[in-house]
Amino acid sequence: MEPRKFFSLLLGVTLALTPINGAYDKERDALLKGTFPQDFIWSSATAAYQIEGAWNVSDKGPSVWDTLAHQGRVYNQDTGDVACDSYHKYPEDVALMKQMGLKYYRFSISWPRIFPTGEQQDGVNQDGVRYYNALINELIANDIQPMVTLFHWDLPQVLQDRYGGFLNNHTTNTTVIHDLFGDYARFCYQNFGDRVKYWITFNEPWITSWLGYGVGNFAPQHNEPAEGQYKAAHNIILSHAKAYHIYDDEFRAAQGGQVGITLNCDWGTPKTPADADAALRYVQFFLGWFAHPIYKNGDYPEVMKTTMARKAQEEGRTTSRLPEFTPEQKLSISGTGDFFGLNHYTTVEVTDACCTPIENPNYDTDKDVGTGHAPDWPRAASSWLYVVPWGIRNLLGFIKEEYGDPEIYVTENGRSDHDQDPAIMMDMERICYYMMYTNEVMKASNMDNVKVKAYTAWSLLDNFEWLSGYSERFGLHYVDFNDPTRTRYPKASSVFFKQLVRNNGYPEGSEFTKYVENMWYFCHNTTEAEVNGYTGGASQISSLFSLFLAIPMMIAYSLIA
Ligand code: BGC
Repeated sequence: MEPRKFFSLLLGVTLALTPINGAYDKERDALLKGTFPQDFIWSSATAAYQIEGAWNVSDKGPSVWDTLAHQGRVYNQDTGDVACDSYHKYPEDVALMKQMGLKYYRFSISWPRIFPTGEQQDGVNQDGVRYYNALINELIANDIQPMVTLFHWDLPQVLQDRYGGFLNNHTTNTTVIHDLFGDYARFCYQNFGDRVKYWITFNEPWITSWLGYGVGNFAPQHNEPAEGQYKAAHNIILSHAKAYHIYDDEFRAAQGGQVGITLNCDWGTPKTPADADAALRYVQFFLGWFAHPIYKNGDYPEVMKTTMARKAQEEGRTTSRLPEFTPEQKLSISGTGDFFGLNHYTTVEVTDACCTPIENPNYDTDKDVGTGHAPDWPRAASSWLYVVPWGIRNLLGFIKEEYGDPEIYVTENGRSDHDQDPAIMMDMERICYYMMYTNEVMKASNMDNVKVKAYTAWSLLDNFEWLSGYSERFGLHYVDFNDPTRTRYPKASSVFFKQLVRNNGYPEGSEFTKYVENMWYFCHNTTEAEVNGYTGGASQISSLFSLFLAIPMMIAYSLIA
């Protein structure tokens, strides 16, 4: 029998067996049927340090993450030395995407794999150039478009040592780091831009700024929580603008691609109506910090400037901890995004905490807010990741209104599981997450007219989850990190995602949508114990789904594959 027919037959049987026809009572969480626009981009993402391994092959220089991991600072002393070994196994990764019907892939280039010291004048690692050419060619040969991130946190260690990395002279016009990032970007456009049409300058500068240079638990481990994050962010914004203009001036006409930045933001929902301003402040300090200068007017959001000015007074400082852009800088920053890259995972409940004196500034104190989570929000394996699907629709609507209706590319969204034995292959909570979140994205697109052009699943593979090492798994594919060959195995979610891509959403009347309708009830009825209280056992939701849905899906998958 033709595999697709067989699959749909199995879904039919599954539906007949499924005991509850899911009517969910909350209007907000109802399933929207329909499809995404025809040219909608479905993609999956990874990042160099998280998957490549080969940390010191040929002339690759160390990155700040190599340093941190080698100091034993990651959970279980894990490192990215081998990771998923994608440096050697990239053809397998591409085959997995092909199998899922994906036509786009977001990955990052490791700066120190191209320039070992971060500076072109010190030498180029030709083997690194060869590797990315080979990966890009493999993608194109399989009809998969590359979307390339230039900086996903793995700064060359030498640049940190020589110049302080993104702390380098942040208030002058002669900052070395901008030029060095510009040189690196130019080199990538020159060498790969004939085939790469989507460039993302920075991934989540909020993380690099706050965790890398403010709190310092992430690389490069600079602890200066009053000011480090603001200095680093200032430099990152200027470096982004530099890379954008280099593309615009030197490459756009010939290559015809697009350049943007990927910003992360948790949606902030007010705990009570009285917290509405605080919730807005939360989003402005988080997303607006970068989005306002780049997508609006070259400068930080007003509420950030006034709040930080008041704090300077309270703290007895003569200048604000938030630096200022010069008029020329503002002009060069404003409008430097051809698309708006968004990474979103979760939502927080915000309360107003104005204006308590700040002794130890942190993300919340600077915003004058408190944050928490509603008791009925299920949690993923990651301590920060609560599942609140409607948050993404609110955030997309906010971006549309606030930044002049840009084209938005969701460049990451996904959910973690624990690393456990037996492995979670029937990853039903991840299926639920993708189902509910993509449906909310479709509501934003089709009901709210937000120009969402892309949805990217994080991640194609289980990988090195930063400080959590290999203890949290985000992949559509399972990777056995104890197996020297790093074999990849499809999880149930990859089958689901493949169907989602094939259907381009939730078309009325399709077998897939019927299947989703039946799952909808379960997906919205996970209890906290099931998802939060990880005990190593299968949750109720998983066992029900395994019985009625996942096993037939997996059988179908193996037959198709
Ligand atoms: C990052 C990824 C990370 C994911 C899950 C994002 O912040 O871009 O590198 O693995 O979230 O934590």
